[in-house]
Order: sequence, then structure tokens, then C-alpha cells
Amino acid sequence: MKPTAPPRTYRVKSYGCQMNVYDGERMGELLAERGITPAAEGEDADLVILNTCHIREKAQEKVYSDVGRLVFAGKQSGKQPMIAVAGCVAQAEGEEIMRRAPAVSIVVGPQAYHRLPDMLEKAVAGKRATDTDMPAIAKFDALPARRKRGSSAFLSVQEGCDKFCTYCVVPYTRGAEISRPFKGLVAEAERLVEAGAKEITLLGQNVNAWAGEDDKGRGTGLAGLIHALARIDGLERIRYTTSHPNDMEDSLIAAHGEVEKLMPYLHLPVQSGSDRVLKAMNRQHTAESYLKVIAKFRAVRPDIALSGDFIVGFPGETEAEFEDTLSIVDEVRYAACFSFKYSARPGTPAAALDNPIAPEVMAERLQRLQTRLGEQQYAFNQASVGKTCKVLVDRTGRDPGQWLGKSPWLQSVWFEGEHAIGDLVEVTLAEAGPVSLRGLVPAPV
Ligand code: SAH
Ligand code: SF4
Ligand code: F3S
Repeated sequence: MKPTAPPRTYRVKSYGCQMNVYDGERMGELLAERGITPAAEGEDADLVILNTCHIREKAQEKVYSDVGRLVFAGKQSGKQPMIAVAGCVAQAEGEEIMRRAPAVSIVVGPQAYHRLPDMLEKAVAGKRATDTDMPAIAKFDALPARRKRGSSAFLSVQEGCDKFCTYCVVPYTRGAEISRPFKGLVAEAERLVEAGAKEITLLGQNVNAWAGEDDKGRGTGLAGLIHALARIDGLERIRYTTSHPNDMEDSLIAAHGEVEKLMPYLHLPVQSGSDRVLKAMNRQHTAESYLKVIAKFRAVRPDIALSGDFIVGFPGETEAEFEDTLSIVDEVRYAACFSFKYSARPGTPAAALDNPIAPEVMAERLQRLQTRLGEQQYAFNQASVGKTCKVLVDRTGRDPGQWLGKSPWLQSVWFEGEHAIGDLVEVTLAEAGPVSLRGLVPAPV
């Protein structure tokens, strides 16, 4: 590589989960501290960070096509951007990226990006730089204070995973479970609220495994953190994701009945409704124990909206086992869901299993599941008609005077009137569609 001028502008392209979005923002803040600013819309950036996801094969392959596209565009414009690959693909196959993609200057793992500025210096000097260490908590200490503005913000509280589901790469790409300390989290939340956040979503690969010591030195779980955050003036809404059924403490369930700011929404993946498949996945819970957790939430918060993740076509999944998944879906009645075809990931135990499911069978199962889940989402929306609730405006709509935002149950709601992004507007849910609702703002009296 040849030495280059230091980059003045950057762009981060984040794939995958919300934690990658959070990491992307924090990398931006690190660069901003050094005077590197976000490239304007439509303008080529001097530095492009591809913040990648390794969860399924399709996600992983994007990095190579993106690099190819950037190189091609650079040749046409005569200005080659510096390319950095961050995120979970960087962690999982940093060496391979360096080999396969000579245009990449920097490979930085999700636990090492606080060292990005040093790596940048190296790259400017013409040396390629790789860092996939996992110092975990040190990263957060080394990051600058948050600058992010906006009405809704993410806050990573827990990272990593010790669950080792047999299909999943996350324990390898994000490392062991760690919890960020209480004090720093409260401080970061206060800062986000000062900068305009009305809603904070706490993030973790197993967010409900968060544990720490509160300001009085008492051991506490996620519920304690939520209670503390709820005391921040100006913060109106708290959410958290993603939870694991086995880490669900009663105090967190109880918090849904106690903390008004905690939204009535729970993302609790089950993956499959078949106990045989759950065992082969090493989920360490059964369909029944999952349903028990759900029942406890509903007892405390009857209107809670539930969402989940599903994998169809895990090796050896029979038609009857797939139907068990449809049954659990029927039983739970989800408000929203994410469903995926199983993707064999290199290095995971499931990748070595026999009896792969044929692609056409997987496609057909996914379609049936998604149809069922879509019907449930529509039914949930229809059942919400007539309710009055607050909507946090996050976008403008298609037509002038139209606004879009989220209900407490995380539904998309659109309505008309004179509002602004970040407003909490009280509306009556008037009409339901499959994926959104129309709200009516009561006329002023
Ligand atoms: N920590 C969370 C989310 C992990 S990744 C959890 O445990 O639920 C998000 C979702 O991707 C998973 O819930 C799972 O449904 C899906 N997923 C993970 N690995 C996969 C694979 N190899 N093939 C298909 N889907 C996968
Ligand atoms: Fe992956 Fe399972 Fe950990 Fe979730 S709990 S991140 S699916 S290993
Ligand atoms: Fe993807 Fe890594 Fe998130 S693999 S889903 S970006 S933790």
C-alpha cells in the first residue's frame, strides 16, 4: 500500500444487528474527535467503514461485494477511498479478508475499534493494520463521550454470549459475556437524554444477563438498571433487546408492572417449537419453559407485545417438528417476528451435522411460517384499533404533513398534523394495516 493523505470524511455502513448500529455510531464519534467528519449525502467519503455481520452466509458475502463495488467506483472517479472492515466478519475472518481483498487497509474487530485512530495512522503511512483482540470492557473506557443526537438512541449494556447455540457464530465473534458497569451506563444515558433522547433501547446479545452493582454497591440485574434509568428526567421510554428465556429473572418481569417508562414489548427468541430441535440447537430451554416465561409476562402486563426469532430447516428438522414451530406461534400470538432459513456457519457445531434440509423445503417452510406470523401481526394491529396511546415521531411520511412513529408496542403508526421528529404525540389508533396503523390526533378542545 502507498502512503496516503489522512482522510477528512468518513462513511460507516452497518449491517446486522442493532449493536452494530451502536458500534458504528461510536466509531463515528471517535473519528469526529479527530476532526474527521461524516461525508455529505451523495458525496464520496475518504474513508469507508464496512461494519459487517457474520450471522448468515448471505450477510457475510456482502463484505466482498461491497469492497468490489468501492474499488470499481474508485477507479471510475479516480479517487480510491480508504477501506476499513469492522464488525463480526472482521473478527471471524480477518486474515482471509486481508488475503482476498488487497484494497482493504484496516481490519478491526468489534471489541477493538477503540484503537481505530492508531490503525488509521498506520494505514495513512501505507501499512495495512489488523486488530481482532478482545479486551472487551477496555473498549468502553477508551471511547470518547457520546455525541449522538436524536429522539431514540441505542445503549450497549452487555456484550458477548456464553450460550453457544450450535448454529450461532456470535460467541466466537463477540466473545464471552460481559456487562458494562452501572455508573458508566447511567452517565451515558444521561448524556443521551441531554442531547435529546426520549427513548433509550438497551442492547445486549443477552441483555437480560446484564449484572452489576448499583450506586450503593448492591448487586443488581437488568431490572435494577432499568429502575435507575427511569429516574432520569426527560427520558420517556425504555426498551431492551435481545433477551434469552433462561436469563429471565422475576425482577425484570416485575419491572414491567412497576416502571411506567418501560415499554410493553418483549423480544424473546424461541427459534423452534420442537424440543428435539431445541436440544440439538443447545438452546437449553424447552417449548414449555419458554411458554411459562411468556405467561409470567402476560400476568404482569396483559397488553405486552411479543416478538421472536425463528430458524427453519435446522439439520434433521422433520415436517412434524416444523409443525411444532407453527403450533408455538399459534399459542403465543406474536405482534412481530423475524424468521430465517438455517445457514450453516463455518466452525459451529451444527455445521457438522448430517441431514441437511433441502433448499426448496426450507423455502416452503419459511413461507408458511412467515404467512402465519404475518397474520398474527395483522391481528395484533387490528386488536389495537380504538386504543389511545403516545407515538414517538421518528420520520416524516410520504406526503407533506404526514408523520411516522412508534407506538408503545413498537407498531409503526402514521398520522397527520403539525408535529416534529422527536415529538410524543397522543393519538387514537383508528385503522389497522398488516404492518402499520393509522392514528388520529384528537382535535384540540
Ligand atoms: N442473541 C440473540 C440474537 C442472535 S442473532 C439471541 O440469542 O436470540 C439473531 C437471530 O439470528 C437469532 O435469534 C437466530 O434466529 C438467527 N440466527 C443465528 N444464527 C443463525 C444461523 N446460523 N442460521 C440462520 N439464522 C440464524
Ligand atoms: Fe447466538 Fe444463542 Fe448466543 Fe443468541 S443465545 S447470540 S442465538 S449463541
Ligand atoms: Fe451479526 Fe455480529 Fe450482530 S454476527 S447479528 S453483527 S453480533
